[in-house]
Amino acid sequence: MSDLGQTVYGDITVQRLHPAIAGAVHGVDFSEPLTAETVTAIKQAWADHLVLVFPDQPISDEQHVAVTRYFGAPEVFHQNRIKSKTVPEIFRVANTDEEGNLVPPSDPVQQQLSSARKWHTDSSYREKPAIGSLLHGVEISRTGGVTCFTNMYAVYEALPARLKTQVEGRKACHDFDMLSRLTGAPRATDAERAAMPPIWQPMVRRHPVTGRKSLYISPIYNDAIEGMADDAAVVLIKELAEFAGQSQFVYEHTWSPDDIVMWDNRCTMHYVTPHDPGERRVMHRTTIAGEEAVEAA
Ligand code: SIN
Repeated sequence: MSDLGQTVYGDITVQRLHPAIAGAVHGVDFSEPLTAETVTAIKQAWADHLVLVFPDQPISDEQHVAVTRYFGAPEVFHQNRIKSKTVPEIFRVANTDEEGNLVPPSDPVQQQLSSARKWHTDSSYREKPAIGSLLHGVEISRTGGVTCFTNMYAVYEALPARLKTQVEGRKACHDFDMLSRLTGAPRATDAERAAMPPIWQPMVRRHPVTGRKSLYISPIYNDAIEGMADDAAVVLIKELAEFAGQSQFVYEHTWSPDDIVMWDNRCTMHYVTPHDPGERRVMHRTTIAGEEAVEAA
């Protein structure tokens, strides 16, 4: 990898990983309490890089949740079948059950999780969408399972005028229930659907910390755009996702064991590449709950 330079923030150093997005952070130990100075430094580095990789952080789920709390309140996922039974703030992106048994791709949870192989941003279907996520590589894949991130500020700025005029001032529908239509997974229960009704979010939003405008879509949940026929909306979302996936915007993270990757859901999208289903992949995610409803830019 060519040297893209590094920046010092107080007591941490961040090595840039891609010209548009992502940095590797050195000088942080998540197994120890963080000082206020370190938290401030991480927040500034996060605002600048959007995605931060913290290598070699062999922490417990409880420590993972404690680290998350420096950045906001952890979400508790609304479906029991995916969150950890022992630490409910942990969302399990895993092809094993909690007893450690490998689970086949035909399992309903695996079907639902397969949606993560398409571009999305986490919890966009909540009235107050997630601020960020922290994913811990507990058992990583060697046959795939690469997580790709795109910079949605840069995507917005580079949109051709024809696409920009179609998203500016418009809202898209974010519907959790779309996952079952997309993947064939069983629908959420009535209670789960009532907890997460479809919601309309602006397609262009201004980041509350940086003040920058970004495109805000989450294609695994979007099937409608206001003022547009549904088939035209589907075509537009597909075109926007393809545009966002161009290599000049995208960092591809190949995992090492005990990497923690922290991303900003307000200005990025991500997806994971497939891997051999016979190979175990166990990733534990916390999600930083949103504090405010999405405002249009
Ligand atoms: C996710 O989409 O939250 C998980 C991504 C991954 O498994 O790498």
